[in-house]
Amino acid sequence: MIWVKVLSKQETEREDFVEMAKADSKKICIVKHNGKFSAIQNTCPHAGGILSGGWCKEGNIICPIHRWEYNLTNGRGAEGQGDYIDIYPTELREDGLYVGFKQNWIKKLFS
Ligand code: FES
Repeated sequence: MIWVKVLSKQETEREDFVEMAKADSKKICIVKHNGKFSAIQNTCPHAGGILSGGWCKEGNIICPIHRWEYNLTNGRGAEGQGDYIDIYPTELREDGLYVGFKQNWIKKLFS
């Protein structure tokens, strides 16, 4: 696992938010919801909407384009959608928030 810092400590201390962050050159979506962090892919698998422009509802991220929903814990689309999003592990450290990427993904993600 390769850990990449995506937010400073100061940025992590804000109230709940949904926003885009960069892990090297890769755009991902960071969610802070009820104080808990999630890192997910930034592009909606339905039709390419930008998930970091969406919002949270009951543990799901809502895509702003057609309002499809994805579970922030397991990435599953809501019933009937039949799709999913990638979820990346997060770790809150003394100096900020880190996101973990599997080593065999790293070439694809950062090339
Ligand atoms: S593009 Fe996200 S729901 Fe359609």
